[in-house]
Amino acid sequence: MSGVRADLRVDLRSDTLTRPTAAMRRAMAEAEVGDDVYAEDPTTNALEARVAGLLGHEAGLFFPTGSLANVLGVRLVVAPGEELLCDALAHVVRAELGAHAVTSGVTTRTWHAPRGLLDDDAVDRVVAMMTPDAGPYLVSTAAVAVEDTHNFGGGTVQPLASLHRLHAATSSAGVALHLDGARLWNAAVVQGADHPGGWQGVVREIGGLVATASVCLSKGLGAPVGSVLVSSAENIARARIWRKRMGGGMRQTGLLAAAGLHALDHHVERLADDHARARRIAEAAAAARPGCTDPAAVETNIVVLDVDDARAFVLAAAERGVALSALGPKTVRLVTHLDVDDEGTDLAVAVLTELLSPRTS
Ligand SMILES: Cc1ncc(COP(=O)(O)O)c(C=O)c1O
Repeated sequence: MSGVRADLRVDLRSDTLTRPTAAMRRAMAEAEVGDDVYAEDPTTNALEARVAGLLGHEAGLFFPTGSLANVLGVRLVVAPGEELLCDALAHVVRAELGAHAVTSGVTTRTWHAPRGLLDDDAVDRVVAMMTPDAGPYLVSTAAVAVEDTHNFGGGTVQPLASLHRLHAATSSAGVALHLDGARLWNAAVVQGADHPGGWQGVVREIGGLVATASVCLSKGLGAPVGSVLVSSAENIARARIWRKRMGGGMRQTGLLAAAGLHALDHHVERLADDHARARRIAEAAAAARPGCTDPAAVETNIVVLDVDDARAFVLAAAERGVALSALGPKTVRLVTHLDVDDEGTDLAVAVLTELLSPRTS
């Protein structure tokens, strides 16, 4: 982002900014590797099998980015000229630069949901929008995309009961569900606290509701690169062809997959620390300026703030050592992650308190 200094002391622009830990780098250095275009990289194969198993799917495929995993995951379930329904703030429709339309001929229709939340009302609206097998007049709905957690919505966790309701309605209509689970791990840690199967139980339960799912290793989990798409073995075989066709076939990816395996072993449960820090920052912001954010809605690692002038706010925070993102003219986002400690959180709390408090002079 322009105007941000290089010597900032806490960088809350995104959880993609994390750098691999020393232990992760060791795991990468020691990884067994082979040629992944030949499906001969043992570490990548192990990661794909591990993630597919976690979500209860037959197969997985490693991707350089979450965007490409989403594009090919959607392509598996939506033919050119058919439509994907998603909410208006969804990453697939807002931040993948039209890739689904440009490369797959997918059309989209959106529903509006505060914070991107898929509650029962939103499910009712989605179901009312669906036009499967619409014939020669309307675009046929082939799939619905759900984002969990929801990035631009503010790290929103999707209620499991609503996901079940949506699954029941879509599957009886022959409409597929695609999960953009870039931050599924964050949702799973929150919901896993009350789930008999813990975070793994949540991941498995959600995986069982969707035809295709992409999950990221390079956001809260702290790997430098990597997403995995999961689906049926037949779908993943098709995705493997498309991945190569689109230039995403890489060779000794075990170096990267090792980082993902390390992250799954060591960095999932600790997401709760990121969530607690985000909540602390949100509480301080709301105390300084009531209504600028709702701390009770901050369930994971993302806080969205309403401010008068987002660009000016981001610059003022940067001058004080805190990097934030402007998401819109009046919307600022901050994200906690592996590289944000208590000291960084203290700095963010102090700076936001200063900038949001009413001026006395
Ligand atoms: C919800 C969501 N989905 C997908 C992506 C895409 O991931 P990538 O940046 O690896 O393409 C992001 C990136 O931030 C995201 O937040």
